[in-house]
Amino acid sequence: MRFAQGATRWVILTDRYAIKIAQFHPLQTIIRFIQHVRAKEVGQRVIAYAANPLPGVMKYVFAGMTIAMAGMIANRTEHRLYKKYGDDNFRIAPTIFSFFWLVNVQLRGAPVNEEELPGHPLWCMFQDNDRLADCRSACQYCRLGGKIHLADYGRPDLEPVFLSYQKRLLLGHV
Ligand SMILES: Nc1ncnc2c1ncn2[C@@H]1O[C@H](COP(=O)(O)OP(=O)(O)OP(=O)(O)O)[C@@H](O)[C@H]1O
Ligand SMILES: [Mg+2]
Repeated sequence: MRFAQGATRWVILTDRYAIKIAQFHPLQTIIRFIQHVRAKEVGQRVIAYAANPLPGVMKYVFAGMTIAMAGMIANRTEHRLYKKYGDDNFRIAPTIFSFFWLVNVQLRGAPVNEEELPGHPLWCMFQDNDRLADCRSACQYCRLGGKIHLADYGRPDLEPVFLSYQKRLLLGHV
């Protein structure tokens, strides 16, 4: 058994499974709030979310909670995306179980190196998008059944990428 630590999840690696446990970071949310208060930016940030104060405050608080609960959000995203896109076209590591998004169980794969990554079907989709630069790193992938799979697909902004790849598949462009 081995342990790995991501930014949002702790991972227990058994022979067959990668067990992803959500981390909680309430302190980051509190620090963010204190920084905004000290910079006298709270009002300005609230208004940036919505012109009306009430929805603005709600969205501001929600954004803070999103930071604190990023691990659960990542687990929820992987569980959901695997149900929708878990076939050989997308090659994402199977997420076979989720316990209320607190703990996800994924099949464990073997490490891969950078040179192998262009062999992944989604690789070309990550090249022109710097926000997804993370997805160009070998530590986000693993080898399962002899093929490279994306192991970390817990980012909600991956879904538009999956959708556009699906469109390309349907149009026969890949
Ligand atoms: N299915 C898997 N098979 C083998 N190893 C895995 C698997 N999933 C995760 N790991 C290992 O655990 C580490 C952290 O997992 P993961 O990237 O999913 O967590 P994270 O919190 O989203 O990380 P970060 O946001 O820092 O990339 C990976 O870099 C990898 O070493
Ligand atoms: Mg990762």
